[in-house]
Amino acid sequence: MRSLLFVISLICFCSQTALSWKKEEFRSCDQTPFCKRARSRTPGACSLIVGDVSITDGDLVAKLLPKTPNQDDGDQIKPLVLSLSVYRDGIVRFRVDEDHSLNPPKKRFRVPDVVVSEFEEKKIWLQKVATETISGDTSPSSVVYVSDGYEAVVRHDPFEVYVREKSGDRRRVVSLNSHGLFDFEQLGKKTEGDNWEEKFRTHTDSRPFGPQSISFDVSFYDSSFVYGIPEHATSFALKPTKGPGVEESEPYRLFNLDVFEYDHESPFGLYGSIPFMVSHGKSGKTCGFFWLNAAEMQIDVLANGWDAESGISLPSGQSRIDTLWMSEAGIVDTFFFVGPEPKDVVKQYASVTGTSAMPQLFATGYHQCRWNYKDEEDVAQVDSKFDEHDIPYDVLWLDIEHTDGKRYFTWDSVLFPHPEEMQKKLAAKGRKMVTIVDPHIKRDDSYFLHKEATHMGHYVKDSSGKDFDGWCWPGSSSYIDMLSPEIREWWGGRFSYKNYAGSTPSLYIWNDMNEPSVFNGPEVTMPRDALHVGGVEHREVHNAYGYYFHMATSDGLVMRGEGKDRPFVLSRAIFPGTQRYGAIWTGDNTAEWEHLRVSIPMILTLGLTGITFSGADIGGFFGNPEPELLVRWYQVGAYYPFFRGHAHHDTKRREPWLFGERNTELMRDAIHTRYMLLPYFYTLFREANLTGVPVVRPLWMEFPQDEATFSNDEAFMVGDGLLVQGVYTKGTTHASVYLPGKESWFDLRNGKTYVGGKTHKMDAPEESIPAFQKAGTIIPRKDRFRRSSSQMDNNPYTLVVALNSSQEAAGELYIDDGKSFEFRRGAYIHRRFVFSNGVLTSTNLAPPQARLSSQCLIDRIILLGHSSGPKSAFVEPLNQKAEIEMGPLRMGGLVASSGTKVLTIRKPGVRVDQDWTVKIL
Ligand code: NOJ
Repeated sequence: MRSLLFVISLICFCSQTALSWKKEEFRSCDQTPFCKRARSRTPGACSLIVGDVSITDGDLVAKLLPKTPNQDDGDQIKPLVLSLSVYRDGIVRFRVDEDHSLNPPKKRFRVPDVVVSEFEEKKIWLQKVATETISGDTSPSSVVYVSDGYEAVVRHDPFEVYVREKSGDRRRVVSLNSHGLFDFEQLGKKTEGDNWEEKFRTHTDSRPFGPQSISFDVSFYDSSFVYGIPEHATSFALKPTKGPGVEESEPYRLFNLDVFEYDHESPFGLYGSIPFMVSHGKSGKTCGFFWLNAAEMQIDVLANGWDAESGISLPSGQSRIDTLWMSEAGIVDTFFFVGPEPKDVVKQYASVTGTSAMPQLFATGYHQCRWNYKDEEDVAQVDSKFDEHDIPYDVLWLDIEHTDGKRYFTWDSVLFPHPEEMQKKLAAKGRKMVTIVDPHIKRDDSYFLHKEATHMGHYVKDSSGKDFDGWCWPGSSSYIDMLSPEIREWWGGRFSYKNYAGSTPSLYIWNDMNEPSVFNGPEVTMPRDALHVGGVEHREVHNAYGYYFHMATSDGLVMRGEGKDRPFVLSRAIFPGTQRYGAIWTGDNTAEWEHLRVSIPMILTLGLTGITFSGADIGGFFGNPEPELLVRWYQVGAYYPFFRGHAHHDTKRREPWLFGERNTELMRDAIHTRYMLLPYFYTLFREANLTGVPVVRPLWMEFPQDEATFSNDEAFMVGDGLLVQGVYTKGTTHASVYLPGKESWFDLRNGKTYVGGKTHKMDAPEESIPAFQKAGTIIPRKDRFRRSSSQMDNNPYTLVVALNSSQEAAGELYIDDGKSFEFRRGAYIHRRFVFSNGVLTSTNLAPPQARLSSQCLIDRIILLGHSSGPKSAFVEPLNQKAEIEMGPLRMGGLVASSGTKVLTIRKPGVRVDQDWTVKIL
C-alpha cells in the first residue's frame, strides 16, 4: 500500500514537472498567519520603549519594555533584551531576544556557524553612551560611536535604532522601527483551549510553542533602489510589493523550496534565502541590512507614500525606501552596514559571513551535465566528442541515475561497473567527474548508510520523536540532521576513498534537493514541527538546513584530501555563508528566452549578497531550447561565474555538436571565449576570495554615480574591465548597449572603440553577444586552447592593454597551483601591470615571502587605443627588441574580419612571474 502511494505521488510529482508552477501547492502570505498578521499592522503599532541602558562587555545593553503594561494579558508581555555592538569598518550588530533570566518556555534559536570567528576580532568595545534628546521627544536617546564618520542612535521612546553620519546635517543611513512596526511574539505556555495548530492543504503543523514571529520595518536613506534578498526570479532592482501606484503582490518570500518550473518573474522564494538587502542612490552611496535568521521570512518593499496616513515624518531632505521584514521564529540578530561605496558594503557583509572559497581552476571552466549520462559508454562518447569538436571542457557530471537505486555513495553495477577506471580516463585529460549526493537517505535496511545513520541516531525526528520519514527520489527516506556538528563530521567522513567505494581524487560532489525537498511534505519540504538536535524545531532552522549539508560535504572533501585539495561542491539550497563552501546554481529553469534574461539579475543578486560562484543551467533545465536560444545561452553563460550545461531527462540530447556545423561553431566560440578569459576569471575569483567583491557585478558597482546604470540588469560587469550585454530575444541582430563612464570601451571581438556615457545601437550578429573592455584596464588571457583548463597550464599569456584618454591602463594577474591550499602559505604569483608614458611594467603584488614560479611567457601584448604607430618595443631586463605588428584583432584562433587595426607586440619573451618593462619605441 505504502509503495503504491509512493508511486502515485511520484507520478504526480513527475507529471508536475511537465506542467508549469503549481501556485496552490505553496502558501501565500494570506495563508501564512504570521505574515498576514504582520502585514496588517499599521505604522505606530509598536508600543515598546527602551529602558535600563548600560554598557556591558563592550556592548550597549538595554531592555525593551511595554510603555503601558497590558492589563488583561499582563503576564504575556515580558521585557526583551536588546544589545547593540559595534565593529570596525562601519558595522553595527543589533540584537533582541527574550530575557533568559525570566525562564521562557524554551530558548529561541540563534543561528550558529554563520558568523565567521574572525568577526569578533573586529569588535569595538564601547566605553560610553552619550545621550541626546531628539527634538519633540520626552526622553533622551542613547548615542554610540561607530566610526569616525558614523554613529548609532538608540531612541528610547518611541523605540527606534538608526545609523547616521556624524558631520553636516547628520544624514541618516539606515534605520529600524522608524514606522513602529516592530513586533515580537513571545513564546507562550499552552493553556486549556489554546489551539495553536496551523493547517495547510492536507498538512497540520502542531506548533507546540505557539506564535513566535518577529516583524519590523527597515528604512534605507538617500536610496533610489533596493537590491538583494535572493533567491527570487525577478528584476535586480526590487520592485515595490505594496503601496500607492503599485499592484499589490506577495511579499518577497525567503523559504527554501523545491519549486518546479518556476516563474521567471515572481517574488516567490526559490531554493535559497539570503536575508541581506542593499540600497543605492543618486548620491552614489550604498548601505546594507542583514538579518541572520533561518526561519521563513517575508519582506515587503513599500512604495513611496505607503505611510501617508501614518502621521510619521522622517527627514524630508532624504529620499528613502521603506521595507517590512517578517519572520516566523528566531531572534532579531541584525547587521547594519554603512558603506558608503558599493564595494564597502559587500566587504562589510563578507567580514560577517565570510568571503567566497577560492575554487580550483577546473571549477571555473566549462561543466557538462545531464540528467543523466546513461552509462560508461555514454560518458566515454560525450567525452570524446568534445575532443573531436575541439571544445574544451573540465567536468562531466552524473545525476541520480548513476547510483544503485538512488542510494548515494553507490554505483549502478550494470551501468557503471568500473567507476574508478571511468574517472581515471577523464583525469588523464585533466578532466574531473562530479556525482550527486542528496541529503535524503533511502530507508532500506540493507543499505549501509541507512543502517549506520539509524543506529547512530543521525536522522531528523518527526514531531513525535521518531526518525522523520518522507518521500524523495529513493522512495521512503530519512534526512541526516545537519544541524549537529558531530553528525556533520560523521557525514564528512562518508567521502573518504574507503567509505565512498569507486571514488577517486578527481571526483567531486553535487548536493541537490537540500532545501530539503520532501515530495509528500507541506510545500514539498519538511514539516515545520520536525525536530533537530537540541530540540530545535525545523521551522527555526529550515532555511539553513541545506547550508549545513553543503558545509558538511565540503568539509568532508577537505578531510578526504587530507587538507591538500580544495573541495568542489555545488549546492542548490543557499544561506548566508554558503560562499565559503562552494558553488551554487539557480535550479530548475526552463528553456525559454525569459529564463535566459532573468538569469542575469539572479546572478547579480547572488553576487551582491556574497555568493559569487553561481550560474544558471545553460539551455534551461526543462524543455528543449531552439538552437538560437541555446547558442545565445552559451554566449551569455560563458560569463557566468559557474558555467554548466544541464538538462532534464525528458529533454532531447543537446550537447553542443548536435545542432549542425554552424551552431557547433558558435557554441565552441562561446566556450573558447571563456577558456581564453580563464586567467582573468581566476584573478577575479581571488579578489572575491580576499575581499568579497563579486566576479560578476552590476554596472553601478563600478559606476556608483551613474544613475542610468541603477536598474540595468541586462548588462553586467565581469570584474572592473569587461562589460557584457546579453541578447535575450529571438531573432535579434541589433542591441542597444549603455556604456557608462567618461572613458571609451573597446569591442572585445574587433577592437572597435565606443565612447562612454552613451547608449549605442550596434550589431549583435549571431557570432557573439556585445562585450567590451573598459579603457584603462589590462586583461590577461590565454589564447591557445587545449582539452581542459589544467592542460593549458603551461600555455603563454596574452595581455590586452586598453588605453584610456591619458594613454594609461592597469590590471592584475593572479596565479597559483589551481588546486591545493598552498596559496594560503604564499605559493602564488600576483602581478600588477601598468601602462604609462609608453611603458608597460610588470611588478610584484605578492608579499616578499610569496613563492611560486612559472616558466610561462607573455606571448603577445595587444594595445587597444594606442595613438601613434610605433615600429618596435624594447624589453628590459632582457635588453632586446620585440616586433610590433598592426593588424586585425585576434581572439584565440579568431581573427576579426572588420574593425580597427590594432597594435600587437609579438613575443616580448618576458616571463609571467618576473619584473620587466616593455617600452614602445
Ligand atoms: C533537481 C535538480 O534541480 C536537477 O538539476 C536534477 O537534475 C534533478 N533534481 C535530479 O537529480
